[in-house]
Amino acid sequence: MINAFKLQRLDFMVAYSCNISCAGCISISDIKRSGIEPVDQLVDSINKWKLLVNPEIVSIFGGEPCLHPKLQDICSEIRTAWPNAIIRLITNGYLLDRFDSSVWFEFSPFEMQVSIHRKDHELLVNNRIKNILNHRRPWKVTTQGGADSHRQITWTHDNFVVYKSIFSDFVPPYKKVENKFLPWYSDPEKAHKICGSPNTPILYKGKLYKCPAVANIIDITNENWFDYIGVDCADGLEEFVKNIGVPESVCGQCPDFSQAIIVNHLDKENVIVRHKNIS
Ligand SMILES: C[S@@+](CC[C@H](N)C(=O)[O-])C[C@H]1O[C@@H](n2cnc3c(N)ncnc32)[C@H](O)[C@@H]1O
Ligand code: SF4
Repeated sequence: MINAFKLQRLDFMVAYSCNISCAGCISISDIKRSGIEPVDQLVDSINKWKLLVNPEIVSIFGGEPCLHPKLQDICSEIRTAWPNAIIRLITNGYLLDRFDSSVWFEFSPFEMQVSIHRKDHELLVNNRIKNILNHRRPWKVTTQGGADSHRQITWTHDNFVVYKSIFSDFVPPYKKVENKFLPWYSDPEKAHKICGSPNTPILYKGKLYKCPAVANIIDITNENWFDYIGVDCADGLEEFVKNIGVPESVCGQCPDFSQAIIVNHLDKENVIVRHKNIS
């Protein structure tokens, strides 16, 4: 992989819909959206990019990735394409019981970030985590601290890590007027300062975009207010990589601090569970 561009992290969008709806979601999965990305298209995407980029971490992103019935096959494809990358599954945890929990260990180095979105459902999510932890002993347990302050508690066994994360404040990455998504046309530098995903590109329907908010809004609205073009092949990739973590005009889609609507998404009213049976 000599000529591949090194990336600290690459998010990989595998599902658009979500089993819950957290107001202000950076992937706009708080609105009703259909579906998951078909597995053959995900594999095409992986094959297209595996020799062009070399990510240290590949985060499996959504929507809710556990809505994808082939999630573990996707992990396997990612492992083959990027043998040394850490695979990080980012999930709200509710649907982890749909999968054989012993299989996650086959993908090490592997991290599972379980985001807690409803305090009153934390016990349920804890039980999902326990089912996974039961497959190995011993676990090194650490609480809070570390580079990522959203991490509440971390369990580590060799190169397999599970952690619970809480992000209480969400800033919706758009303006909404009469149910229409619009950009803020903010100062990009100021918007970038409060961005929820300031330096993580996303692989979305085969193309690379600056962040999940940009990719999802262009896709949902069919509007392109900033003439932003996702990168589709090696052309333009060098420029794209140079701009990771750097404010660009498209960051004007999101608000700056003075415009931002801050949603406490842990507040029950702001997190609606679409599933009928929670057990
Ligand atoms: C979009 S979610 C997708 C994965 C999964 N559904 C989950 O919630 O973990 C990925 C991460 O983005 C965080 N997130 C969502 N909306 C955000 C926002 N507006 N600002 C900052 N982080 C956000 C979530 O807390 C979650 O940890
Ligand atoms: S769980 Fe919440 S943050 Fe994650 S995708 Fe669903 S709506 Fe967005």
